[in-house]
Amino acid sequence: MAERILTEEMENAIRALFPRYPTRQAVTLPALHIVLEKLRYVPPQAVVEIAGLLELAPSQVQDTLSFYGIFPQDKPHGRTRVWVCRSISCALRGSDELLQQLCESAGISPGGTTGDGRVTIEIAECLGACEHAPCMLANDELHHCITREQGEAFLRGLK
Ligand code: FES
Repeated sequence: MAERILTEEMENAIRALFPRYPTRQAVTLPALHIVLEKLRYVPPQAVVEIAGLLELAPSQVQDTLSFYGIFPQDKPHGRTRVWVCRSISCALRGSDELLQQLCESAGISPGGTTGDGRVTIEIAECLGACEHAPCMLANDELHHCITREQGEAFLRGLK
């Protein structure tokens, strides 16, 4: 039997959501977010345990997980997760070059994580702030009109 991966704290946080949603199935996405926030990934064993809590088949939880592109399953994302927007407004204002430069500086490809776990750099679709292109989201912080120099400085400042 696989070792349990959800802590009691995570399970309690998921259970605490039950009264706020019409069905347990509706708790799937917030439960995935709880696990992602704690573990920085949602491994298959976590999917099985979430399904158990929500009285669903693991495949139902996996369906929801795989619909979104934000839940890594093989390993945790970096302590900082950077998303560089590549949609049209940002692309026209140099986001491709920004992404390339950030990845080169970090020594990774888009979607990759540095060996020290400091940062993961990913490609995002429109972040909803097109008038401030190019945009970059770092964890929950949106960076507007970011230049390559600012992106470099941001990376250097990460722990
Ligand atoms: S196109 Fe980048 S924020 Fe909308």
